[in-house]
Amino acid sequence: MSETSPIRSPATPRPTSGAPRYAHVIGWGSYAPAQVLTNADLERMVDTSDEWIVSRTGIRERRVAAAHETTASMAAVASLRAIRTAGIEPDDIDVILLATLTPDYWMPSTAALVKEAIGNTRAAAMDVAAACSGFVYGYATGQAYIASGMARNVLVIGAETLTRFLDYSDRNTCILFGDGAGAVVLGAADTPGGGLGIEMTTEPEGAYMIWLPAGGAKRPPSAETIARGEHFVRMEGKETYRFATRTLASTALAAIDRAGLKSSDIDLFIPHQANIRIIEAVAKGLSLPMDRMFVNLDKYGNTSAASVPIALAEAVNQGRVKVGDRIVIVAFGAGFTSGAVAIEWTADPERGRAGDAAVTPADVHVRLPVDWDSVDPIPDALAAVMGRPVAPGVDVPLDDVVPGEPEHARRDRKTEIRV
Ligand code: UT7
Repeated sequence: MSETSPIRSPATPRPTSGAPRYAHVIGWGSYAPAQVLTNADLERMVDTSDEWIVSRTGIRERRVAAAHETTASMAAVASLRAIRTAGIEPDDIDVILLATLTPDYWMPSTAALVKEAIGNTRAAAMDVAAACSGFVYGYATGQAYIASGMARNVLVIGAETLTRFLDYSDRNTCILFGDGAGAVVLGAADTPGGGLGIEMTTEPEGAYMIWLPAGGAKRPPSAETIARGEHFVRMEGKETYRFATRTLASTALAAIDRAGLKSSDIDLFIPHQANIRIIEAVAKGLSLPMDRMFVNLDKYGNTSAASVPIALAEAVNQGRVKVGDRIVIVAFGAGFTSGAVAIEWTADPERGRAGDAAVTPADVHVRLPVDWDSVDPIPDALAAVMGRPVAPGVDVPLDDVVPGEPEHARRDRKTEIRV
């Protein structure tokens, strides 16, 4: 941690009194890249059909990051939107936790890149690796930082560029996933509210049910691992489905129980957006109608760690969450992991739309190395899709980023947030 980290700062809030410290959601925001990959597009790539995908998953389309977009750049847009919604400055953030399974690099952390891109000079920044449960794990960790008095404002992000890790000849996986980012700001308060109950589980017997075989220390990247396609996501769909339907409801119930509530007390569930059939099974398991489940997977597919924060931001901005509502965020993923937080909502939902409008992708700049010589990151299978014009009204893509000296990049970086 740096000299200016919140742990050493004299301004750091410390648990001097015995009074509980609550972690409220004070900001939220999301970003989805402009380009759309439809089921009809996938019909042209693999032996599948719109009818099969919609009936088996509920997914109609997903977003694809443009060549100049990355996990860090999308995360930075969502983060600045969440910070603007919270009505604070980037430098008010003490800790940045970024959940992803598709980091920009193995090192540094993507959270470190986001810290610079949003114009924060003082936060501790790190990534969270818990696959699709990562955002919920990050949320729980952020709450713990606040409850312990080690931080006042924690930025929790879920961001993914999954389309660069998919085999577009494998119909089992390539139809499911998409790109995007979502973020919340957790703020310390003495008044009750925010996260009331948390549950997290990890079941390593599921370790190889969803995994990415090569690129790590066990199988370092080589021409052979690439020839074998071992740098793509692999998945045992049926086993994963069974785990999800078994675990999501029980994990949510455990968090609700810790909050001293019953499932009928929950106004809205915000589940991981993996498959509509899984979400329906959760509703059935909890004996709740589907209108208590927020669903947006038809538009984005499964964005892994980004799915819950994107859904949360959309649910609030669509008026589905009111002050005083009890909501549950719940996810499952590779590991096998699962996690849930029962939350009492305390922020004015109206703030979210202004926060979104205040930040465009052009407001962030993720600095590249000085002598960066990039390759085109777009998979061959998506080249035609990415060449198409995007529909008006969707988020405009980031400006091309230009390699530069740190000082130069800093001078050019636009972190000012406008309403
Ligand atoms: O964040 C966690 C990420 N993972 C998940 O959430 C995955 C959870 N699992 C699932 O969502 C579902 O298991 C899938 C959507 C992946 C698959 O649905 P399913 O109902 O379990 O299908 P299945 O694997 O049992 O396949 C049924 C049939 C098979 O053909 P046969 O053997 O019956 O002839 C598959 O080969 O459907 C075939 N199939 C497809 N057909 C058209 C599999 N994928 C496709 C496809 N298009 N994309």
